[in-house]
Amino acid sequence: FELIGNFTFSEFLFSLGSTCFLNIFYSVTYGVFEKLRVRGPKPLMYWGTVGRHNQVYYLDDYECAKKYGRVWGLYELRRPMLAVMDPEMLKIILVKECFTHFTNRRNFRLNGDLYDAVNIAEDDQWRRIRNQVTPSFTSGRIKEMFNIMQHHSYKMVVGLQSKVDNSEVITMKDIFGPYSMDVMASCVFSVDLDSINEPSNPFITHASKLFRFPVPLFLFQGFFPFFLPLLKFLGVSLFPKSSTSFFRTVVEKIRAERNESSKTNVADILQYFINYQTKTLTKVMENQGLNDHEILSQVTMLIFAGYETSATTLTFLAYTLARNPEVMKHLQQEIDSTFPEKGPIRYESLIQMGYLSSVVDECLRLYPPAARLERMAKETVKIKGITIPKNMIVMVPVYALHRDPELWPNPEEFKPERFSKKNKQSINPYTYLPFGIGPRNCLGMRFALVMIKLALVKVLQNYSFLVCDETEIPLRMHPEGLMGPLQPIKLKLQKRSLNSADLDN
Ligand code: HEM
Repeated sequence: FELIGNFTFSEFLFSLGSTCFLNIFYSVTYGVFEKLRVRGPKPLMYWGTVGRHNQVYYLDDYECAKKYGRVWGLYELRRPMLAVMDPEMLKIILVKECFTHFTNRRNFRLNGDLYDAVNIAEDDQWRRIRNQVTPSFTSGRIKEMFNIMQHHSYKMVVGLQSKVDNSEVITMKDIFGPYSMDVMASCVFSVDLDSINEPSNPFITHASKLFRFPVPLFLFQGFFPFFLPLLKFLGVSLFPKSSTSFFRTVVEKIRAERNESSKTNVADILQYFINYQTKTLTKVMENQGLNDHEILSQVTMLIFAGYETSATTLTFLAYTLARNPEVMKHLQQEIDSTFPEKGPIRYESLIQMGYLSSVVDECLRLYPPAARLERMAKETVKIKGITIPKNMIVMVPVYALHRDPELWPNPEEFKPERFSKKNKQSINPYTYLPFGIGPRNCLGMRFALVMIKLALVKVLQNYSFLVCDETEIPLRMHPEGLMGPLQPIKLKLQKRSLNSADLDN
């Protein structure tokens, strides 16, 4: 072959061919938003727009919102994803068109045993399962479970006593994690784990693992999506098998014990599902109940959906209150006047506490554990002039939405008054989404709020949160999974000098 410069002709053809191929690949893969006339960060080959501005995905969203406004296009590796934080569009996507075009979240189809959990199930199956799970969280049911929550909040505060007496620096997750897990396990299947006294409990280790997607697997399926059916066939799952099997074994054992002793008067969520169960698939299709496998999946999923989110929220609450002592003082005044002399916490009074509610709402604005929501377009639709093609993921950047300066003046500041009774009325519901909104919103929202408020009131009746040398300020955030700090949040607690009774309940 003739030499062209230092190349042989075949080498020259090969590099020309490769360059053409890569150019075509790039424009086909990464030309989607250009065609739709949607702006966004420039994608890198293979990598897409992941972490273009910040390694932490929701901080990246925040930067994009500043640069591109309320709608922009992203590529998660090769997958296009439309980010929407325009309230009018959100109303259509999350509420009006939920049952028609936007019923489901993205589904990797690598869900292992949890394929029929309510957060993963799709379309008619999701609707049927959701209808079965929802009645477990009515006000009446939550009120029934309040006694259980009280029991665990009491144990949590007693557990704190020696640590405070010894002036220990306390890792907040070590207190609120076990509390959340104990409440969830007791309410879901009546097992008193006593994690507060045994923090290395396998329930906690396994539930934590369920929230951390394995990054190598995530990257592999992103780069080579055509291998997905093979991975599914091989039983590969984004949820660690050891953890799902752990929960499966526990629930199966509890069920077997109940069958043997015909104990049907237990008032937990598992028993509620069993009581409404029908045995045959045909009846299940007639919207009569959950089958055995579905019961198992819902129980496992409720434990992990409730544990990490509630524990994280309590941890951020402790941190923000320690950093805003005047707010904490105001809240303690409300607590003391609602429950004088550290008196027992009554359900009705707790849920009516205005300032407490504002503090929790404001904390969830600054630190929403689910920093993004997702829906998948079932068909091509046009919303406010923007075409959303079939199978496109619509992502709601909740963190960025909650810190939009046009919606929230001085968004970085912790100001519970934003959510006072008067101010709350002027908040557009599509701009504040810690629990999502619409038919597919958080199923455990009211349950979570009661459990969080109770724990907070119980601790603040007796102690105040204090920042110490070990408290990281400002916080660095964890780049993966649910929103959370990179390093555990550490604080000190100070005993309140009220001349009243002891920890009593
Ligand atoms: C502070 C605590 C919590 C937060 C911030 C939170 C937040 C969320 C969010 C943002 C979603 C997605 C909503 C959407 O896509 O529109 C969700 C879904 C869900 N949450 Fe929660 N959650 C919390 C606690 C709980 C608890 C305690 C439970 C159960 C007892 C629970 C059960 C669920 C379930 C089952 C779903 C899936 C609903 C469906 O797909 O139909 N969550 N949650």
